[in-house]
Amino acid sequence: MSGGVIIGIESTAHTLSIGSVNSSGEPSSSHSSFFRPESGGIHPREAADHHAENAGRLVKEFLQSGIDSNSIEAIAFSQGPGLGPCLRVGASVARALGTKWDVPIVGVNHCVAHIEIGRQQCQMDDPVLLYVSGGNTQVITRMSGRYRVLGETLDIGIGNMLDKFARQQDLPFPGGPKIEMLAKDWLMQNPDADLDDYQLPYAVQGMDLAFSGLFTAACRLVDRGADLGAVCWSLQEHSFAASIEVAERAMAHTGKDELLLGGGVACNQRLRDMSSIMCDEREGSLGVPAREFCVDNGSMIATLGQLQLQNTGPTKIQLSGINQSLRTDETNITWE
Ligand code: ATP
Ligand code: FE2
Repeated sequence: MSGGVIIGIESTAHTLSIGSVNSSGEPSSSHSSFFRPESGGIHPREAADHHAENAGRLVKEFLQSGIDSNSIEAIAFSQGPGLGPCLRVGASVARALGTKWDVPIVGVNHCVAHIEIGRQQCQMDDPVLLYVSGGNTQVITRMSGRYRVLGETLDIGIGNMLDKFARQQDLPFPGGPKIEMLAKDWLMQNPDADLDDYQLPYAVQGMDLAFSGLFTAACRLVDRGADLGAVCWSLQEHSFAASIEVAERAMAHTGKDELLLGGGVACNQRLRDMSSIMCDEREGSLGVPAREFCVDNGSMIATLGQLQLQNTGPTKIQLSGINQSLRTDETNITWE
């Protein structure tokens, strides 16, 4: 069968998600279930248990949303990078469904999926991508058949830094949206605020970034009595400015004039506004996917699965093992 629906399964970390793309390349909305740790960070085994417990229900719900199982052409899944136990659940579900429906499976690179869904949604051909999620912070662009990482975090991802700071302040997980709200409310009440009064270390190191120092300094500011809203505001301003500075330098070096945002932190309105200002100043254009396609979702896995299926075919079962440390630039891009 050809030209059918591709199902995508995402399970790299805290999100288990199932989505699809139709034969015209249009992604569906995804059905997702989120693992929320009761306290502390994500424990890989607990997140994997959550995925295993919810996979059956999620697949059923997704099929009931109007998918004809006879129209399914292939099952795509996140092969890496991510947490091993979580990835293994997604790969097992993909193999089981592939066998059940007698269709091939396609293992995809999660980071490349963020790029491809963004390109598809924003109709961009050859952008610089600012990929800002929990585990990843990278500035990427296509060169010689691969997505090359031009700059990235040298320690933790920007989203993990925000989540860690939130946890330290007893704010619920995920911390990013809560920090955004506190920062916005505080700024509305303090429109004349001066960033110099809440200085934090600057996270740029050449073309790379680092967020651990920022996290420690922000915690110290709160400990010294600064208003939590003010520190949330400063934390966003510093970490977003640093990320956008590296993205701008990447645009200047490569001569490219499109910037595409991706990853969960790209849901943040302040990051979107700051990116827009930078692009306007350079007379470039900004692509911002809808929030449901910025966070981890099954439809982005299906979108990349479709591209791979059309260009390099399915993944052989003996090559379908997961790869926790798969890098963005390890995947051949054959659909330029
Ligand atoms: P990856 O495997 O690509 O690293 P991930 O597992 O981190 O992805 P995503 O859904 O891409 O998952 O991103 C989740 C992150 O996005 C969390 O750290 C969360 O705090 C952050 N986030 C979500 N919404 C916002 C927001 N409005 N502002 C800032 N950060 C946000
Ligand atoms: Fe992601």
